[in-house]
Amino acid sequence: MKTISILNENDLAEAYELERLCYPIPWSKETFFSNQGERYLNLKITIDNKIVGFCICQQVADEASLFNIAIHPKYRNQGLAKTLLNQLINDLMAMPSKISTIWLEVRKSNSPALELYHSIGFNQITIRKNYYPTTDGNKEDAIIMAYTLAL
Ligand SMILES: CC(C)(COP(=O)(O)OP(=O)(O)OC[C@H]1O[C@@H](n2cnc3c(N)ncnc32)[C@H](O)[C@@H]1OP(=O)(O)O)[C@@H](O)C(=O)NCCC(=O)NCCS
Repeated sequence: MKTISILNENDLAEAYELERLCYPIPWSKETFFSNQGERYLNLKITIDNKIVGFCICQQVADEASLFNIAIHPKYRNQGLAKTLLNQLINDLMAMPSKISTIWLEVRKSNSPALELYHSIGFNQITIRKNYYPTTDGNKEDAIIMAYTLAL
């Protein structure tokens, strides 16, 4: 059975394994475990009680930042990330803080993520040159995108 719910403290060890599986340059364990708390709305998607995806989103005033979203490689291209992001957007819209915009940064080369964000309705705002380190020791541009929530 597929379920979306809050990613809580007890899920972090399992979710961090997924982080390591999903990225050539994953977050450190310290970064992953510290991106939690009352300013965050973090969700997980489980299939038969196994975490197959998560998203990490921070809220500050009326803005939110999607810091991370990942789906287990075996479960990609089945609409899971889109389902998770749409749930996140619905949850943000229901919050009393009246979030108006969701921001994110994505590597220029990350076509699956760019396809996902465009399909949801994020727009490119600007490019940050040489923002991300690459596995071969070079740098890669970041694309900054934003999504405006219907108020
Ligand atoms: C990016 C990622 C989260 C997408 O997850 P997913 O569950 O496979 O995405 P979905 O199946 O929900 O696809 C959503 C849309 O993106 C498109 N898409 C997803 N992967 C794609 C790919 N490899 N190539 C082209 N389009 C792709 C889908 O066709 C779909 O578009 P549609 O709704 O118009 O048909 C997943 O590839 C991942 O975990 N990547 C590694 C971590 C990462 O890079 N995260 C993003 C950091 S910014």
